[in-house]
Amino acid sequence: MSSEKVLSSGSGSGSASASASAPLASPHAEVCKGINGLNKVVLRDPRGSSAEVYLYGAHVTSWKNDHGEELLFVSSKATFKPPKAIRGGIPICFPQFSNLGSLEQHGFARNRFWTIDTDPPPFSTTSSSKTYVDLILKPSEEDMKIWAHSFEFRLRVALGPGGDLLLTSRIRNTSIDGKPFSFTFAYHTYFSVSDISEVRVEGLETLDYLDNLQNRERFTEQGDAITFESEVDKIYLSTPTKIAILDHEKKRTFVLRKDGLPDAVVWNPWDKKAKAMVDFGDEEYKHMLCVEAAAVEKSITLKAGEEWKGRQELSAVPSSYCSGQLDPQKVLHGS
Ligand code: BG6
Repeated sequence: MSSEKVLSSGSGSGSASASASAPLASPHAEVCKGINGLNKVVLRDPRGSSAEVYLYGAHVTSWKNDHGEELLFVSSKATFKPPKAIRGGIPICFPQFSNLGSLEQHGFARNRFWTIDTDPPPFSTTSSSKTYVDLILKPSEEDMKIWAHSFEFRLRVALGPGGDLLLTSRIRNTSIDGKPFSFTFAYHTYFSVSDISEVRVEGLETLDYLDNLQNRERFTEQGDAITFESEVDKIYLSTPTKIAILDHEKKRTFVLRKDGLPDAVVWNPWDKKAKAMVDFGDEEYKHMLCVEAAAVEKSITLKAGEEWKGRQELSAVPSSYCSGQLDPQKVLHGS
């Protein structure tokens, strides 16, 4: 997938809005043309890690470690053609998760053109990262017809010092007539895994979940870590702030840390659903797993002027779990 630097940009569906040509605050961020001429921001940390974010959907489509290894899954059949959301990476589900409301599946944020936010309000906590981009979404007149709420959604995508990928969402109710609104939300992360049958998820065992495959009936997870041998589509409730995804074959552990996002959705379509999805390869379910930091069970309500913040931090660490040297409890509760 080739890319070229964008020297100037116009507006329109295939390009960023005018603000994409404004200088980026981070010296390590650059606006480029991506697939089908869609604008993307490439973040390159001087230590070697990188990430790519399409302005279409504010969609992270790549996160590489300092060895250049891709850590996110993007389908080889992903279309990168609006209005369809990109299959893979990290879609943003807002203002509705799944079909839990009257909007289209997973809301509209993932198929709108965002703009680069050159003057975001300061963060309350200072982040040491110098490799980041700020994006913003405000509702259009068309959006207001389907979801009549004034909001500003600011997303910062940053690379941390150790190559961690940090996503911070700040959603503000900008209504001037005092109207509150409620929403559900998810960072729908597709992790790249070597072989789904060798993957374990730690941190969700013994928790309650709603099973999307059984009319969202509530169950309690039994036993040990979660492993995969068939389709899974579960919303785990009141989850810990740290979840680990252990890739036995790759000897790699992803650690997902989250804040403001109590739930965690785990999804793998498995073979039948994979075949039914036009933008997903028949066998690709073997090489991905979605673990989604989310706020689903209890929607978030913002009064006029209020702001909500939801953060996800991903790191990928080498693990020797297969040889029994790594205690998964250390991944979850250790330093
Ligand atoms: C998951 C849902 O979050 O996303 C699944 O729990 C859904 O039910 C999956 O199938 C993919 O959704 P979409 O809209 O991107 O195909």
